[in-house]
Amino acid sequence: MEYTTLGRTGMTVSRVCLGCMSFGTSRYDWGLSEAESQEIIERAIDLGINFFDTANIYNYGESERILGDTLAGYDRSWPVVATKVYMEMDESNPSSGGLSRRAIEYELSRSLDRLGMDTVDLYQIHRWDYDTPIEETLDALDDAVHRGDVHAIGASSMWAYQLSKALHTSDRRGLKRFATMQNHYSLAYREEEREMLPLCAEEGLGVLPWSPLAKGFLTRPHDDLRATRRGRSDTILHRRPYDEGAGIEINERVQELAADHGVSMAQVALAWQLHKDWVTAPIVGVTSVEHVEEAAAAVDLNLSRADIEYLEAPYEPLPVKGHH
Ligand SMILES: NC(=O)c1ccc[n+]([C@@H]2O[C@H](COP(=O)([O-])OP(=O)(O)OC[C@H]3O[C@@H](n4cnc5c(N)ncnc54)[C@H](OP(=O)(O)O)[C@@H]3O)[C@@H](O)[C@H]2O)c1
Repeated sequence: MEYTTLGRTGMTVSRVCLGCMSFGTSRYDWGLSEAESQEIIERAIDLGINFFDTANIYNYGESERILGDTLAGYDRSWPVVATKVYMEMDESNPSSGGLSRRAIEYELSRSLDRLGMDTVDLYQIHRWDYDTPIEETLDALDDAVHRGDVHAIGASSMWAYQLSKALHTSDRRGLKRFATMQNHYSLAYREEEREMLPLCAEEGLGVLPWSPLAKGFLTRPHDDLRATRRGRSDTILHRRPYDEGAGIEINERVQELAADHGVSMAQVALAWQLHKDWVTAPIVGVTSVEHVEEAAAAVDLNLSRADIEYLEAPYEPLPVKGHH
């Protein structure tokens, strides 16, 4: 495994971050049992992966609990644990969700309980909250850092102007800044290259792309997308399909290069990300032990400049997906 520094936090993380959204069964039809999830987390650690991304919303807390229970068997100094806040945890509760001080303090204490940890290494806002001034959110996050509940704070999908406003607000008020951006980015969705990624590079933010394999679209021939349980039942995947624009041709070029290099499509799609200077660590979603093994192996796959240009050439601009 290769390691890098997470933005300006000084924390050292593996170049592959293990996405934990598939752990648990309370929300997604395609989720994994506790035993299946634990096996994946343990294998990830064997392979040198020390960076884990979960969220309070992932299977309504089950993902955090499974991750925490599994990591309890390891020294706390080993894993770098990221979680998130914002989404509504209880649809019947009118004050559930959002980024008010009240919501952040309540949800952070619940996340720490489920993780069984004293501190979250990276606490991220899952989306922009249009109902709460960013000053209120940043004050509450800064206090969480000073209380010792959180080491660093990060943001996730939003407009570049919003991230810029948040960074300037932190600087103006002398508060902790967002150290990372977790955004939607893959060979099949590159809209973030216009504004967000250059902004992150300029401001020294670590970049943690989500859905780097386009939710499985870049891991198998496009005709086989529905061949897996997730491929058939992931409603987001079908609501925001990746075969739009030049998706089909990109998928076919990934297939071709995978055959040329004698590796899997997932490895080509991840290696492409790992060759991008602005990417710290893609957050890879997995539903089997083999998937995590291939993700770790992708770190060693060298693509030539010609390979990269060939993969990128067909891309056509797409509507913004993942936040609005
Ligand atoms: N911040 C946000 O708003 C946000 C949004 C989404 C996700 N995330 C984070 O990003 C992580 C990853 O997202 P994601 O799961 O949507 O996307 P992804 O990593 O693009 O796709 C994961 C899917 O790709 C397939 N796959 C992975 N490795 C494979 C391999 N070696 N061979 C064949 N197929 C392989 C599997 O599909 P099958 O299961 O169909 O086989 C797997 O479920 C999540 O766990 C979460 O931590 C964050």
